[in-house]
Amino acid sequence: MIFELPAPETLESESLVSCIENRRSVREYSKAPLRIDSLSQLLWAAQGITGPEQKKAIPSAGGLYPLQIHILVRRIAELEPGIYEYQSGNHSLKLLGSISPEASIREMGIGDQPWLNDAAIVIGLAGKLEVAIRRFESQAPQGERGSRYVYMESGALAQNGHLQCTALGIGCVLVAGFDDSKVKEAFGFPSDVEPTALLCIGQRWSV
Ligand SMILES: Cc1cc2nc3c(=O)[nH]c(=O)nc-3n(C[C@H](O)[C@H](O)[C@H](O)COP(=O)(O)O)c2cc1C
Repeated sequence: MIFELPAPETLESESLVSCIENRRSVREYSKAPLRIDSLSQLLWAAQGITGPEQKKAIPSAGGLYPLQIHILVRRIAELEPGIYEYQSGNHSLKLLGSISPEASIREMGIGDQPWLNDAAIVIGLAGKLEVAIRRFESQAPQGERGSRYVYMESGALAQNGHLQCTALGIGCVLVAGFDDSKVKEAFGFPSDVEPTALLCIGQRWSV
């Protein structure tokens, strides 16, 4: 099932400098759902098409764009909970399956990371390391350069997402301390990609 996302807003809401200054890791969230247009905006900032030749919001070594985004959706108004794949070409989501039991999500984190279970959504990033390694295998250090690029691109994507969350006034934390195989299973990533980062996102908890 394909779900078309609303068009992203491209007029700046808050200044970039203020977003950089105010960005903090937020690990406590309320139970309030996120708006579908916030999800749309976040995914556009993360990997949306922003120019001719399918150029995207983040830089990519050799224009390879090896990253895939799967989203674990718990609380988004107008969207059924489940695991979705972001399709940047038509700015839409494809439903892949249902969310794993709470206990197995909790086991994904290295150490106790309850925000993995509390977040309204968790954005999962994974990259085709082998494709990038092959593409850059002529460059030293052979075999490593391509995978370095995938992790760099993942960091750029995560920072775009983090800053967009700040602009939207919603909480976000980047989690990279996780069990790779459990993340792959929970997010329904194919066997030829490796998970690189998770972004836990939700309405900020306020007392
Ligand atoms: C590569 C990387 C991995 C991280 N992994 C985790 C993680 O597994 N769990 C977590 O709660 N925070 C994680 N963080 C967030 C850092 O703890 C946080 O950015 C740091 O404490 C600075 O705080 P600030 O983001 O509020 O400025 C990670 C950050 C980076 C850059």
